[in-house]
Amino acid sequence: MKLLLLVIAFIVPLLANADPVYRLLNLKATDVGYTADITLQEGSGPYGSDIKNLKLETTFESEDTIRIKITDRDRRRWEVPKVVKTKQPTQPPKKVSILWFAFRLYDIHFEEKPFSFEIKRASSGEVLFSTRGTPFVYFDQYITIGTTFPKPDPNLYGAGERAAPFRLETNNQRYTMFNIDNPNFYKENLYGTHPFFLEFRDGRSSGAFLLNSNAQDIIVNNQSLNFITIGGIIDLFVFVGPSPSQVVKQYHTVIGAPFIPAFWSLGWHQSRFGYHNIQEVQQVVQKYKENDLPLDTIWNDIDYMQACEIHHHHHSLSLGLQGFHDRYPEDQMRQFVDKLHANNQQYIVIVDPGIKKQVGYRAYDEGVRDDIFIKRSDNKTDIVNKVWPGLCTFPDFTNPKCHQYWDRLVSDFLSRVPIDGLWLDMNEQSGFCDGECNGDPIIKNKFSHRNPPYVPGSQFGRNLNSKTLSSDAIYSIGSNYDLHNMYPLYQIESTSRTLQRTRNNKRAMILTRANFPSTGTLSAHWTGDNWSNWLSLRMSLSGILSMQLFGISFVGSDICGFQEDATYELCARWTQVGSLYPFSRNHNGMGRKLQEPYLFDQAFTNMARKYLYNRYSLLFHLYTLFYENSVHKGMVWRPLFFEFALDKGNDGIARIDEQFLLGSSLLCSPVVYERASSVRAYFPSGVTWYDYYSGEAVSNGSEWRVLRAPWDHLPLHIRSGSIIVKNTPALTSAQTKKNPIGLLVALSDTLDDSLGSLYLDDGDSLNTVDLGKYTLITYRSVYQGGNRNVFRLQNEILNLGYTQSSNTIDCIIVYGVKGNDCKAESGGAVLPTKIGPFNTLTVNLQVNVLSKLDVVVNCKP
Ligand code: NOJ
Repeated sequence: MKLLLLVIAFIVPLLANADPVYRLLNLKATDVGYTADITLQEGSGPYGSDIKNLKLETTFESEDTIRIKITDRDRRRWEVPKVVKTKQPTQPPKKVSILWFAFRLYDIHFEEKPFSFEIKRASSGEVLFSTRGTPFVYFDQYITIGTTFPKPDPNLYGAGERAAPFRLETNNQRYTMFNIDNPNFYKENLYGTHPFFLEFRDGRSSGAFLLNSNAQDIIVNNQSLNFITIGGIIDLFVFVGPSPSQVVKQYHTVIGAPFIPAFWSLGWHQSRFGYHNIQEVQQVVQKYKENDLPLDTIWNDIDYMQACEIHHHHHSLSLGLQGFHDRYPEDQMRQFVDKLHANNQQYIVIVDPGIKKQVGYRAYDEGVRDDIFIKRSDNKTDIVNKVWPGLCTFPDFTNPKCHQYWDRLVSDFLSRVPIDGLWLDMNEQSGFCDGECNGDPIIKNKFSHRNPPYVPGSQFGRNLNSKTLSSDAIYSIGSNYDLHNMYPLYQIESTSRTLQRTRNNKRAMILTRANFPSTGTLSAHWTGDNWSNWLSLRMSLSGILSMQLFGISFVGSDICGFQEDATYELCARWTQVGSLYPFSRNHNGMGRKLQEPYLFDQAFTNMARKYLYNRYSLLFHLYTLFYENSVHKGMVWRPLFFEFALDKGNDGIARIDEQFLLGSSLLCSPVVYERASSVRAYFPSGVTWYDYYSGEAVSNGSEWRVLRAPWDHLPLHIRSGSIIVKNTPALTSAQTKKNPIGLLVALSDTLDDSLGSLYLDDGDSLNTVDLGKYTLITYRSVYQGGNRNVFRLQNEILNLGYTQSSNTIDCIIVYGVKGNDCKAESGGAVLPTKIGPFNTLTVNLQVNVLSKLDVVVNCKP
């Protein structure tokens, strides 16, 4: 058998004819682009049987995005369905406005034979995507299309999910994309599939997305990039940028913008696989409080479930595992959660998709009754694989009937224990048998869905069935071969509908492990089973940056690591940078050394308190970034070149992934190496960088600096020209939300204005932006009369749809003040001021956040 596979994989390609040559015919301009036929003339791809007649459809999606769709002219092939319906505007425009033709930022040129196309930037003729000279193969189970690069060693990003450096390596790398349960093995494919890449060249960017759900590879070398997919069609979007953040905006317009998380979910989270009983969980919450450490949400892993014991509580949503475990009695759980809620804290539990196959277990019986489980290739028997509780069946979320089933189970659970969100784990779908545990595969044909000739991931010794459901399993709308990577989207969509309904349209939190484009419109993600080691700490940064590109902004990694034991030093460094993750959760593996932040020593607890409080002092800032991200489509964490694309050292800046920007103005340079007490950090050009904590002007940009970073220090800098709203932190986000706020102004070092903004809403209603139920305020500091000693700080309320805010602004802290004898006035009244070290100025005031702000500061040079 192995020999046969070897022959298919290696010998067949060698025997194949010359490369296929297609010819473009009947090119016609339409209202929205072009159509044409593409016909095979000669040659064939590595596996023969190339599709002869293809159809090309080019759509000018917008002035900055072009779509190229190539399908089989004679036979309908699998196409990615629209799953997140509300947020996926990928339909071609009805009619392209005449303006787009006039202002399109790209041109497309076709070559007739051999068929190829080139997309160029209209303004400069720069080639953005060119298939000329790259292999173009269209066989049922092997389709490839690619682009060449005008310069060697391009700066490329994307092609996730994996634990690897942020910038793709270009030495003949094969980046596999196929969702699997993989414990973060370095550079291998992990839980998500994102056939998107962004290129950064000479300060400008472009990008491309292959809308295709099949298992696939992206092959990258010095000169070219090739998508190889083993099914579906070519549905390629090319984005013209020209800035990196514009490429991301253009991409997110196609896949849907990230959502605004519930305000509380931006607080700190604690979790562990292996909290033995409810008392232990209660104690964790108590210990946080006793140690004056903020905690918003406590999580339970599978420990709460009554694994494999069927007699109690089989009404509950222990999908895959049964009921509450006796060590988590339901009545005590209810009281516990009620108490958490009374303290403005939240509770989330895990759920796996596998349903224990056991007659008498409600979730199983009803699934069988409603006939909603995924089927084997005979399309009759439910497919069975093994997960934690033993043999399991799997809900087919693509089946419309499945939603009622899931909705019943979830809402029933919620009526018993009012959880605040669900953690969707193992949804790759992870299984402990390869393909299925039913027995022998039903079909063993050559080149079947079970045995494609080319297998993404084979370089790691895997096939499509390794530790997951068989690729020939059948869903109500297609086969696992095509749908495998999209499973989480259907599960998330169904879960989200139920949580919204049962929680009275309050935002819940969904955290998914498996992911695909559009996941970020509804769900958060964590980067899975990382390790308590320094490599995993570093990879968390590039993992989070990549997820920002993929539209999954609300993302984090298990802080202090999941597998193995975290050392004091590692957990300290991880807590520091983890406190700035978009999603901050300390989670630990079963049997691993406990790593809650109060368990080390007093110095550690003090350090953790400092950074957790620092996070809470940035909650409004973070929330505002999520608002901007959702409405204007962007990223919460940004690589440095996103904000400084024209930085003088732009080639170097393109490689930085151990520093990041939170929004546009906070530069974080964490220590990510063992025993380091300093960090080498780059400061991008054109602005002044102030130490975030002290206000000291540290750099004028365009230089590397070695910064002192003792074990308890996280280097953080603020960019001149920015204004940040700071909360007075408390032990919960709810209390923090009510406390007074301050403004941190890092004055511009040119005569430009300094800017900042604040988004406010009730924190957990749905659709606040669409319904206008939010307040948006901008802050601006303007130098008066061309004089940098005199400036005026004002606000402007752009939207006043949320008026319940009672925050007072009680101080303004200004970095970069020229002079040290300053006077501040507002409406004729003199305000108390204080000048501190490094000429930082503190102005005290008492003004409601919703009222007019107008403060004039006059300093003597
Ligand atoms: C795998 C998940 O990645 C991990 O976070 C979780 O603790 C275990 N499954 C147990 O549920």
